[in-house]
Amino acid sequence: MPVIMAQLIDGVTIAAQIRAEVKDQVAEMKRTLGITPGLATVLVGEDPASATYVRSKHKACEEAGIASFGHVLPKDATQEQVAAVLTELAANPNVHGILMQLPLPKHLNEDPLLALIPQHKDVDGFHPSNLGLLGVKGKPPPFAACTPAGCIELLERTGVSIAGKRAVVLGRSTIVGLPVSLMLLTRDATVTMCHSRTVNLASVVREADIIIAAIGKPLFVTADMVKPGAVVIDVGINRIADPSRKSGSRLVGDVDFDAVAPIASAITPVPGGVGPMTIAMLLKNTLKAAKQSQK
Ligand code: GUN
Repeated sequence: MPVIMAQLIDGVTIAAQIRAEVKDQVAEMKRTLGITPGLATVLVGEDPASATYVRSKHKACEEAGIASFGHVLPKDATQEQVAAVLTELAANPNVHGILMQLPLPKHLNEDPLLALIPQHKDVDGFHPSNLGLLGVKGKPPPFAACTPAGCIELLERTGVSIAGKRAVVLGRSTIVGLPVSLMLLTRDATVTMCHSRTVNLASVVREADIIIAAIGKPLFVTADMVKPGAVVIDVGINRIADPSRKSGSRLVGDVDFDAVAPIASAITPVPGGVGPMTIAMLLKNTLKAAKQSQK
C-alpha cells in the first residue's frame, strides 16, 4: 500500500485570508454606505474559557473594523435580566449580529433565550430555523453556524470536492455534528453520522472519503479507522496530560494526528486547523448581517 503523506490544511492561513477579505469589505461598506457592521456579545458569569473566547471575538472585530458591544452579566443573573439585554439588542439598529456565549450558568434556560435573538441577527447560526434550512437544498439560511461553516470552507479552499463523496461525521451535536452533516448533504455528499450508539463505528468510518471528527474524545480516531487517501477534519480541542511539557499538558484533537497523517491525503492539525476558522466565519456572518440589514 502506498504511503501518502497528507497535505496539511492550514486553518491559521485560511482564516487570515478570510479575515483580510472581511476587513476589505467592511472598509468598502463604511466608505460607500457609511455603515459600520456591529456585533454584540452577551457573556453571563465568569467562566474563564468563555471570557477568553469572548475577548478574542472582540479583538478580531476590532482588527476587521467591525464595532463590537460587550455585555457582561453576573453569574447569578436571572432569566429575565438576560432576556432584557437580548430584547434591547434585538431592537438596536447599530447591532447587526448578536452572540450569546454558551454554555450559560446552569440555572438559566438556554432555548427561550436563544429564541430572543432574531433570525436576521443570529450570526452564530443557532436559531432553529437557521439550523433547519441548512438541510434544504437551494434555500440556504441567512447564517450557518460558524464552526461547521469553517469546516466546509476549509474543504472548499483546499480544493476538496464534496459532491458524490462518502462523508462520515463523528458526533451529532446541534452546534457541530448535525449542522455540518446537513451542509455536506446539500453539497451532495453521501453522509453518515456516527455517535455513541453506533455499532461497528470503526468499519463505518473506514468507508469515508471525508471524515469530520467532532465527538470531544481525545485521539479517538486511530489509523486503523481511516481509509488511505481520506480527508480528515478534526474539530476536537481536548487538553491531555503531558509530563514532557512545562505546563504538564497539551492540546490534542479527536484524531490521533501522528498516526493518521501518513495515511490521509489531507488533514487539519490541532491547534491551527478548525479552531481559527470559527472566529473568521463569525466576522463573515456579521458583515453579511450588516449587508442584509440594508435590504
Ligand atoms: N461556546 C463554544 N463555542 C461557541 C460558539 O461558537 N458560539 C457561542 N455563542 N458559544 C460557544
